[in-house]
Amino acid sequence: MIRIGVLVSGSGSNLASIIDACNEGRIDGEVSVVISNVADAYALQRAENRGIPTEVVRHDDCPDRQSFDMRIVSTLEKYQVDLVALAGFMRVLTPEFLSRYSGRVMNIHPALLPSFPGLGVRQKAIDHGVRFSGCTVHFVDAGVDTGPIIIQAVVPVYPDDTEDELKNRILALEHQIYPRAIQLFAQGDLEIVGRKVFVNNIMKEDSQCLINPPLNN
Ligand code: GRF
Repeated sequence: MIRIGVLVSGSGSNLASIIDACNEGRIDGEVSVVISNVADAYALQRAENRGIPTEVVRHDDCPDRQSFDMRIVSTLEKYQVDLVALAGFMRVLTPEFLSRYSGRVMNIHPALLPSFPGLGVRQKAIDHGVRFSGCTVHFVDAGVDTGPIIIQAVVPVYPDDTEDELKNRILALEHQIYPRAIQLFAQGDLEIVGRKVFVNNIMKEDSQCLINPPLNN
């Protein structure tokens, strides 16, 4: 059983999917603490409703990024966290933080990295006219959305999509792949080699492909 610390800033739908997966035995672990940098984040309420301890570490209360991160580290240490899962956490972590949790920090991003890193990415994908987008769970390194990729899921994008339509299409898959990535970590099945993440015991499905618009319509 691994102890998971989830860092949030907002709604917390991914947090809820992780807690539910732990409760349903799809993750061999438990969410030991939820830490938010935003005092009124709805994610905190979701955690409290599910009986999970919460902590608020406001970045405004800290003189600089490093002291903010060190306060988060000491909170994670208090709860003896093995894995840090960023779930809509809107701060970039310092190298000092990452060196303490090397290979043990994950993030979920609502695009197919390395395309569309950063913010506002669903609208950017629609505006670019891509036929597919999706979501990515990756290990966190010192860059923004640049770390080794663990798992990705793909959805079609339509030129007349609204941002909300694409957001909801992607979010439904986020809630499936984030718990899966965490369970692979919990089982010890992930190995980081340079930029790549090798996953033990997975089937290769060479025929798996998606075409949009479809060939036969
Ligand atoms: C998700 O879209 C996730 O990909 C991004 O932030 C959003 C968080 O949503 N990193 P929620 O707070 O989990 O509902």
